[in-house]
Amino acid sequence: MTIIVTGGAGFIGGNFIFHMLKKYPEYRIVCLDKLTYAGNFSTLNSVMDNPNFRFVKIDICERTGVFALFKEEKPDIVVNFAAETHVDRSIEDPEVFLRTNILGTATLMDACRHFGIKRYHQVSTDEVYGDLPLDRPDLFFTETTPIHTSSPYSSSKASADLLVLAYHRTYGLPVSISRCSNNYGPYQFPEKLIPLMIANALNDKPLPVYGTGKNVRDWLYVEDHCKAIDLIIHKGRVGEVYNVGGHNEMTNIDIVKLICKELGRPESLISYVADRKGHDMRYAIDPTKIHNELGWLPETKFADGIKKTIQWYLHNRDWWEEIISGEYKVYYQRMYGDRK
Ligand code: NAD
Ligand code: TYD
Repeated sequence: MTIIVTGGAGFIGGNFIFHMLKKYPEYRIVCLDKLTYAGNFSTLNSVMDNPNFRFVKIDICERTGVFALFKEEKPDIVVNFAAETHVDRSIEDPEVFLRTNILGTATLMDACRHFGIKRYHQVSTDEVYGDLPLDRPDLFFTETTPIHTSSPYSSSKASADLLVLAYHRTYGLPVSISRCSNNYGPYQFPEKLIPLMIANALNDKPLPVYGTGKNVRDWLYVEDHCKAIDLIIHKGRVGEVYNVGGHNEMTNIDIVKLICKELGRPESLISYVADRKGHDMRYAIDPTKIHNELGWLPETKFADGIKKTIQWYLHNRDWWEEIISGEYKVYYQRMYGDRK
């Protein structure tokens, strides 16, 4: 079995590669990644010497390179994690999101059509459903909730999902899609809420909370997401969408206060800043389908997962300090410099 994992030098793709190499030592895993600002070669250090692992630096939009790799590797399965993923960056500059997230997805699926594939799996997001109001805690996203996006990021991911389903219907490509809620855990780039707050708190820097801090996200430990994708690619039905989430809704402000508490930092570091444009209020997944069909349930409770995550950032300072010492500084100044 050969699996091409795109975007494997990023947060979830990297964790997925670790999960797969450990659970299926006989599988060959080929990681295809462009190594954008969000891709970190060092994330894959621990698997580089594994004879069943190969890393290839390619852009998923580069048709010639992608086709050559498919010709050489003849993958059985492709799992596409590669994407531009940060909502704030998509608001600043949408174009690269459209290119990678939409055209890149089409290029990969064209290669799958050309060379044949047992499964193409698209890693999508609950953000394609838009948001839910805070005063309706009874509402959840199901797989039949209409697509209704808010940001250029979520719109690009939704466009990709539509293409994936169209390739299934039009060309019979054996596809599946997972739409997951917010992930947290080791190796997450410190531009996202949880690692950014951990890194800033450890450096006694202000903790920038957007708007009121009352926006709600449904947090899932990254390993649980990886296990869900593992189940879907092996046992999930072709042509289907599976929502993945663990009924773990928290407001942003509660998360930031919890991080302060765990790290012994004062809440006075919290600084309310101007809200994100078009900021989604609440995400909440109904995971009934994946539970009933595939028996998936999240295994890591948030109280444990957040402790493990904080410990990881404490013990792996080199990994994130290297990131925040480079281009990130320019990004941070641009994004947060005079944000009042
Ligand atoms: P990430 O930003 O940490 O990593 C993205 C990876 O994709 C990086 O290694 C980057 O180098 C690579 N990449 C970007 N453009 C590329 C291109 N053109 N060609 C090849 N590689 C390219 O992202 P993540 O948080 O690990 O998210 C992975 C996937 O999961 C994305 O598709 C995202 O939409 C989805 N998702 C993420 C979350 C979350 O909470 N992080 C939740 C649900 C779904
Ligand atoms: P983020 O990690 O960017 O994920 P997403 O927008 O894809 O859900 O943000 C999670 C939540 O945290 C979101 O409501 C925006 C908020 N947020 C802040 O309040 N401050 C920050 O500095 C960041 C990065 C996010």
